[in-house]
Amino acid sequence: MGPRMHPEGEFLREGEGFAMEDAARVEIEAVLDDVAEHLLEFGKKKSNLIPILQMIQQRHAYLPAEAIGMVADYLGMASCEVYGVATFYNQFRFNPPGKHPIKVCLGTACHVRGGEIILENFERKLGIREGETTEDREFSVERVACVGCCALAPVAVVDDSVQGHMAPSKVEGIILGFQIEKEKRQRGKDGSDGEEEP
Ligand code: FES
Repeated sequence: MGPRMHPEGEFLREGEGFAMEDAARVEIEAVLDDVAEHLLEFGKKKSNLIPILQMIQQRHAYLPAEAIGMVADYLGMASCEVYGVATFYNQFRFNPPGKHPIKVCLGTACHVRGGEIILENFERKLGIREGETTEDREFSVERVACVGCCALAPVAVVDDSVQGHMAPSKVEGIILGFQIEKEKRQRGKDGSDGEEEP
C-alpha cells in the first residue's frame, strides 16, 4: 500500500482521517469476504494464480495486500511469490483507483516534451508516487503509453478528459480546481458556508 499521509494535509479535514480509517477497514473486510467466497470457484492449483488475481481486480479494481495474503494461503504460496507474479504484469493495480484518476502520457512525443516533469509535478503536489492513491482516495496517478494525441504533447488524461500542452502551472490549476470542488461539496454536506457564527 502506498503512503497514506498527505504532506500538506490540504485534502484532509479535522477528524476526516479517523473516519476514513474506519471506512477503509469496513471496506477491506467486505472485499475479503467477497474474495473468500469467489476463491472457492477456483481449484487450489498454482496455475490458477493469474485467473484468481484477474477475478479480484475485476471485482474490486485493485489487489489489496490482505487479499494477496489470502490468495497466497489458499494456493499454499508465499505472499512474496504472489506479489512477484502480480507485479510482473502491468494489468494489476495495488492501490484503489482514485475518484479522479490521472494518467500522464510518457509516450515518445510527450516524453520529449517534458512528460516526466508533468508526472513529477503531479506526484509532488499530491504527495504520492505513480501507481499510488491519495489518502482521501480523491486522486491516483499513473504513467501511460501514447494516448493518441501527440500534437497536444505533453498530455495528461484526467477523469477521462484529455488535457493537452500540460505545464506545471496547469497541474497546479487542475488540482486546485478539484480541491475547491471538494470543499464546496463538504460545505454542502455540513450545511454551512464555512463562515464563523456571529
Ligand atoms: S506520446 Fe503522448 S499522446 Fe502520443
